[in-house]
Amino acid sequence: MKADVVLGLQWGDEGKGKIVDVLTPSYNIIARFQGGPNAGHSLEFDHKKFVLHTIPSGIFRDNVVNLIGNGVVIDPVILLDEINAIRDFGVDVAGRLLISKKAHLILPTHRIIDAASEASKGKTKIGSTLKGIGPAYMDKTGRNGLRVGDVLSPLFPERYRALKAKHVEFLKQFDFDCQIDDYEKQWLNSIEALKQFTFVESEYALNECLNSNHKILAEGAQGSLLDIDFGSYPYVTSSNTICAGVCTGLGLAPGKIGEVMGVFKAYCTRVGGGPFPTELNDETGENIRQVGHEFGATTGRPRRTGWLDLVALKYAVMLSGVTQLLMTKADVLDDFDTIKVAVAYRIKGEEVHQFPFEINEPVEPVYKEFKGWKKPLSGLRSEEELPFELMTYVRFIEKETGVPVKIISVGPNRDQTIIR
Ligand code: GDP
Ligand code: IMO
Ligand code: MG
Repeated sequence: MKADVVLGLQWGDEGKGKIVDVLTPSYNIIARFQGGPNAGHSLEFDHKKFVLHTIPSGIFRDNVVNLIGNGVVIDPVILLDEINAIRDFGVDVAGRLLISKKAHLILPTHRIIDAASEASKGKTKIGSTLKGIGPAYMDKTGRNGLRVGDVLSPLFPERYRALKAKHVEFLKQFDFDCQIDDYEKQWLNSIEALKQFTFVESEYALNECLNSNHKILAEGAQGSLLDIDFGSYPYVTSSNTICAGVCTGLGLAPGKIGEVMGVFKAYCTRVGGGPFPTELNDETGENIRQVGHEFGATTGRPRRTGWLDLVALKYAVMLSGVTQLLMTKADVLDDFDTIKVAVAYRIKGEEVHQFPFEINEPVEPVYKEFKGWKKPLSGLRSEEELPFELMTYVRFIEKETGVPVKIISVGPNRDQTIIR
């Protein structure tokens, strides 16, 4: 058995949470492989909406194990809040959640370093979610980090104090308010509370599952264009969001990867700073934001909006070896007369088909126009009902990327999903 993957192909918020929730009944284990509470994955069913940050999006389905993998960075306070909210909904979280011993911890001081570092960047700030993601991954790669398994050691308090002292020293270079007392208290209490959950050597657990023919779905966070290596650096997150991240973030060999399902919106959004070639700073962009409720699930910030970008999408498909495309939010474009798609960029008068090293020059997208379908999609449930104009749009994307569009999502709810 091989593990299938769901990951984002744009700048995050493609609708991964909804899609994973829809696909979960076909799997035994849902495993997050990277990122942390910078993620906000929204699920809607039974007239309720949930936003998950650290817990995999399979948590509401019965008989499925949800695993937080070694590639994830965990803020115990946020994780515990999430667990309590889900428990209040009547779900036995402890019975379905496993946490990798090798996942790294986000310390209270990581959040302060994130905020201080962003503040010092002024105009060039990344627009981080300020959850301490970058600093936690820096300590991981710098070989200073604390891991979930460490909390069981009698030496943990000492190691915590030593790392905190390092951070306090580092923070002296910034003119920044470093008050963490309240959060630290909560953090230490949350660490104690988390000890009731099952910590595992998840690489062994997952490989044994595959050997026993159990089905694993790996859930990505963020999107391919926020990848630390291939995204629009430095305006990226601090983990590998592409399919390679599944191997390092769960301990699965490349040959153990099955279907790679890439989620993309029928248009594009981005939250935070950095280049966005097809961005619409006009009425059309505002229209997409309002109709699509494009406000961050984690920070509430308005998301920047624009047309679908095929240069970027093809890049993401290439990087992850995407075998299936899953398109979300087509319904947001219901009322448009014309829908545009960027098929190339024009930079300094030259037509470019590759995602550039750095986008410093003004980029003029080369657009192809499609006729809008001008019909409400949200009530449709089968492919046969989908308007001809939408299918023309979908077929063009399939032809350009060479990958079939297997799901068309027409609303935020679980059942607003057309599987082809
Ligand atoms: P994620 O981070 O990739 O899980 O995506 P987010 O949850 O941050 O953002 C996606 C938003 O779009 C959420 O509010 C979802 O409820 C919503 N959504 C997902 N799929 C659809 C869809 O097909 N149509 C509409 N209108 N909303 C959708
Ligand atoms: P999901 O999983 C959208 C963005 C931030 C910022 C940059 C770096 O919900 O798709 P970080 O907090 O990682 O230091 O922020 O990445 N970002 C996201 N944008 N969706 C996300 O997650 C994101 N996680 C981080 O806005 O620009
Ligand atoms: Mg999100």
